[in-house]
Amino acid sequence: MFRIDVDNINGKTESLYVYGEHSILTELEQHNVLINHSCRQGHCGSCVLQLLSGNVTHKDCLVPLSQGEILACRAMPITDIKIGSRNQSLLF
Ligand code: FES
Repeated sequence: MFRIDVDNINGKTESLYVYGEHSILTELEQHNVLINHSCRQGHCGSCVLQLLSGNVTHKDCLVPLSQGEILACRAMPITDIKIGSRNQSLLF
């Protein structure tokens, strides 16, 4: 089981516990953490997040990513991770 830490809009870190069987996007949705998304297939780039710590496995995507960026729809955690949004204002 892995922990996903996300900072909510008040700056408080919330921890979600997942088995790493689904994409980060799906895991966030199942925990009622809502982020932008559209295609769910690595095409649109709307679900980009910052990986602040930990590691993920990342499926192929068409979106050019900068260092530390992941697509929530294409990435699954393989360790405990901490994620944030591109503009540092996450979630909920
Ligand atoms: S939802 Fe389109 S790239 Fe993730």
